[in-house]
Amino acid sequence: MSDKTFKMTLHVWRQNGPKDTGRFERYECPEVNPHMSFLEMLDDLNERLIEEGKEPISFDHDCREGICGACGMVINGVPHGPQRLTTTCQLHMRQFEKGPYEVWIEPFRAAAFPVIKDLAVDRGAFDRIISAGGYISVRTGSAPEANDQLIPKKIADRAMDAAECIGCGACVAACPNASASLFTSAKITHLGLLPQGQPERQDRVRKMVAQHDAEGFGGCTNHRECEAACPKGISVDFIAQMNRDLLKAMITAKDDVPSRD
Ligand code: FES
Repeated sequence: MSDKTFKMTLHVWRQNGPKDTGRFERYECPEVNPHMSFLEMLDDLNERLIEEGKEPISFDHDCREGICGACGMVINGVPHGPQRLTTTCQLHMRQFEKGPYEVWIEPFRAAAFPVIKDLAVDRGAFDRIISAGGYISVRTGSAPEANDQLIPKKIADRAMDAAECIGCGACVAACPNASASLFTSAKITHLGLLPQGQPERQDRVRKMVAQHDAEGFGGCTNHRECEAACPKGISVDFIAQMNRDLLKAMITAKDDVPSRD
């Protein structure tokens, strides 16, 4: 990697609010430093826009460490851009050093993720899916000693794999059905595999899947685009696990718990 800067042309989706129709706007970036992260490159552009008295580009970010999931955007048609297993904040401009020098940046597009402004979307639907059942009610007190409750390593590892989901929404943006099945199944499974998650396992899957559907996300038809786009490598195996759990839960459904039927 060199220290030489390079030129880029950006086409950025600009939208004043949920009711605006939106459009792409073109920006020339004459000195992109390969050491910059993608968000730093946008910061740089925003500073220039502010100096010129123009409206800066709105985009979400928080940790800038690949942890919080806030920074999702579609870069040249791919959620989080061209580098696999990488969030936008961890994507560096060296990825573009040899081109493409023309980059199209859009928000995550799904009816359940309305655009707030420019590249920032409202992912409150994910919070409501979690509120529907993504928790355990059992009182666990303060943090217990990790080995008090023995859990087979295979199960602990699988629960940890599911818990890696950062709720960024790339799975929804990548899916032709705008399904949030990968997110929902990861959140269901990381609790459903552990002993503390067992008492509410059936109610949890019914309630969370019902909320997923109520938010307007589509169903999973096995395109597996979600798995390919996920910056944390969450496997579609968790969707299969969710569907098995849901089937069992529907057979024993109580009337007062919403379900998908
Ligand atoms: S800003 Fe937190 S994951 Fe990118």
